Formats: sequence, structure tokens, C-alpha cells
Amino acid sequence: MTISPLIIANWKMHLTLKEAMAYAAKIEKILELQKSNKQLIIAPPSPFIASLGERFPKLQLCAQDLSIFDEDGPYTGEISAKILASCGAKYSLIGHSERREYFDETNVTIGKKVQNAIKHNITPIICIGESLECRQAGGFKDLLSYQIISSVPTNPIPKELIIAYEPLWSIGTGLVPSLDQIAEVFELILGHPHLKRLAKACRLVYGGSVNSKNYQNLLSIKDIGGLLIGSASLKEEEITKILN
Ligand code: 13P
Repeated sequence: MTISPLIIANWKMHLTLKEAMAYAAKIEKILELQKSNKQLIIAPPSPFIASLGERFPKLQLCAQDLSIFDEDGPYTGEISAKILASCGAKYSLIGHSERREYFDETNVTIGKKVQNAIKHNITPIICIGESLECRQAGGFKDLLSYQIISSVPTNPIPKELIIAYEPLWSIGTGLVPSLDQIAEVFELILGHPHLKRLAKACRLVYGGSVNSKNYQNLLSIKDIGGLLIGSASLKEEEITKILN
């Protein structure tokens, strides 16, 4: 059985509600018109999730982050996994490098968020990746290993888990690692002793400067389960080609 690749569209902090609804309507049409073998997941800004879910029930929705706090409580500004699930989120990005950089998220924080997601039946998409300095210095495998060990839970084993390899030097830069470089990281992840019991539940995706010109090549990498796409996912022409 071939599993359809996931196309995860990370809209980041873009669009108004009106624009998001209009864009989702176009995407729904693209999905209806095309016999795509790919599975689209949209990660819009959180306030749009409920409206998008009600108006477009066929779209699969993903949060871009969720709270470290799990219980209801006085945490102004936070959005828990429970709240996101009640709005229709089936997935959540966790530990995106922009959250690690701008909000000082640590691997421990990320591990806790992953647990919260699993508890509320949200599939975590755990983002890992190294900076260019780290890759050039040669310590990137240790860093990626550490990110995995500290954020991927092994008890209980989650039903489904997605690990997104997004090298920081590739996000928004137009630089894409070679296929061999990505394959090397996938091998490291799948062969990691921490993930041994999880291998069946775990899907791997790549993210960083994916577009309509390079996506096919990227999808040819061994063990790849999909792509996590930022800026190109906001362009109708690009997403049309990628879903085709
Ligand atoms: P770009 O596709 O814009 O490089 O962004 C990648 C990303 O951060 C997806 O989460």
C-alpha cells in the first residue's frame, strides 16, 4: 500500500480571516478538481481554525503551536490542546524553529507540549533542525539526537507522530539541502534508539524553501512522508502545482 504524502501548509502569521476563508475556498476547489494523491493539512493562525473547520469540513486543520499548560486556568493569552481540539485541530506543529528562536522554547517545553497534544488526540508534528553554524561545526547530528530524545515521548507510545526536519538555514532562504543530506538525517531519525518502538507510528517530513520546482525531487527521498511548506503554500499557483 502506498501512503499519500502529506502536504502541510504553514500559513504562519499571514492573512486576515476574510482572506483565509477566500483562500481556503480556492484550495477546496483545487482539491475537488484534482485527483491528487497527496493529503493536504492546513496550519492557519489559530483564531481561524474553528471558522475554517465549520465552513470547509473536508480540510484537515493543524495548529501552529499549543500551550504548555494542559489544565484550564488563569493563563492569559494561552491556547490549550483541549481548546484547539474543540475547534477542530487534528494536528499541531510543535517546536517550530521560529518558536524556539523568538519565544525561547526549549526542548523540555516542547516535550511537554507534545504530551498535551497526544492527550487530546492531536497528532504532534515535532519540528527539529540545526543552524548553518551547527552543521558547519559538525555537531548537528548530536543536536538533532538531543532534540529527538527530549521531545519525543515513548511512554505511552503515541498512535501517530510526525517529525519535521526543517534546517534553520533553509527556512525562507531558498537554500535546500541535497537529497543525500536530507536522507542522512532521516536515517539518523529512524535508526535512533529512542525511536525504535515508535518507528511504525512515525512519519518524516521535510520543510524549508519547498516550492513547485523542487517538491517532486524532494518527494523521491527514501522514507519521506511529506513536505512542510511555508511561503509557497500561500501562493495559489504554487499550491495548485504541488497538489497536482
Ligand atoms: P518556507 O517554506 O517559507 O521556507 O518555510 C518553511 C517553514 O518554516 C515551514 O514550517
